[in-house]
Amino acid sequence: MGKLHIVGGGAIGSLIAASAHKNGVPYDCYPRNIRTMPARAQWQDGQSIELKTAMLGPVILEKGDVLILPLKVYQLNAALKQWLPYLNQKPTVVLMHNGMGGLEVARDLLGADYPLLLATTSHGALKESTSSGDFHVKYTGLGATQIGAPNLVKPIPQKLADLLQVAPQLANAIATLDSSLPPVQYRSDILTALWAKLSVNAVINPLTALHDIQNKHIADAEFEQTRRKICHEFTLVANAYGFNFDEDEVLKNVLSVAKATGENYSSMHQDIAHGRQTEIDAINGYIVEMAKKKGIPAPENTLLVERVKALSV
Ligand code: PAF
Repeated sequence: MGKLHIVGGGAIGSLIAASAHKNGVPYDCYPRNIRTMPARAQWQDGQSIELKTAMLGPVILEKGDVLILPLKVYQLNAALKQWLPYLNQKPTVVLMHNGMGGLEVARDLLGADYPLLLATTSHGALKESTSSGDFHVKYTGLGATQIGAPNLVKPIPQKLADLLQVAPQLANAIATLDSSLPPVQYRSDILTALWAKLSVNAVINPLTALHDIQNKHIADAEFEQTRRKICHEFTLVANAYGFNFDEDEVLKNVLSVAKATGENYSSMHQDIAHGRQTEIDAINGYIVEMAKKKGIPAPENTLLVERVKALSV
C-alpha cells in the first residue's frame, strides 16, 4: 500500500490522518501552520488518537503514493504549485473540497491526463481549540466519501473492479483511502455527485452564515421561497451543462442533509464566525459564473454572493 500524504491541518485532513493512524495506514501530514495543527482526535466513542504534529516540507513522492489536498478551493493553486516539483513520478493526487473549481486548477497545473481523483465527503469533523491553547479535532458524524476519476478517457469504468483493470494506480489509491477513513465509494459519475453536493452547499452554507443559524433551521418556513429559488437556478444551470437534475429532488436532498447535520454549524457559518475567507466564490459564485456562460439569469445566487461578501469584510 502506498503512503498517504495529507496537506493542511484542517478538520477533514486531520480526521483522515487520525483515521489512517488508527487503521495502521502509513501517512504523513504537511500542516501549513504547526500551531493550529490538531495534536489529537476525539472519536465518537470517546477514544482519543494522537496525531503526528511535525512540520514537514514536501518530499518526492513515489508513484504508488497518494497526495490528498483537503483544502479550500482558493488555497489549491498555491498548494499544488508548491508540490509540483515533487510529483515527477506522477503519484495520485486527490482533491477534496466544498464547491467547484478545483478540477480546473489541477488540470491547469498538472495537465488534463494527470492521475487525479475528485472526492466529496459527508464525514463530520470539527476543529476546536482547547483551554490550553492547542487544537483537537472531533469526529462529529459518521459519513461516507464518494470518489471518481475525472481525467479518465471514455468509456469510464462503471465499477471499482473495472477501474482496477483500466487504471490500477487509481483503484489502489482508492483502496488506500478506504483503508484510512472508510467507506470510500467509487463513482463513475463523480461530477454528478459533486454538482449534487454543490446544491446542498449553495442553500445551507450562505443561509446559515447570513442568519447565524444551525443547519436544521434551513427547513424553517421563512426560508421556503429562497430555498426554492436557489434550487431552481441550480437545476437550470446544471442541466444546461448536460446533467439531469430534478428541482424537487434537489430540494428534498438539501432538506434531508440539513436535517441529518441539523445540530452543526456549516463551514461557511464557521468561516464568518472566525473572520476567515469563505468559499462563496466556489459555491454560489460558481453557479453564477456557469449561469453567465450559458446566458441563464441567476439573481438569487448573485444576491447571496454579494450578501456573504458584504458580511466578510
Ligand atoms: O460545508 C458544510 O458545512 C457541509 O458541507 C454541509 C453538508 C453543509 C454540512 O454542514
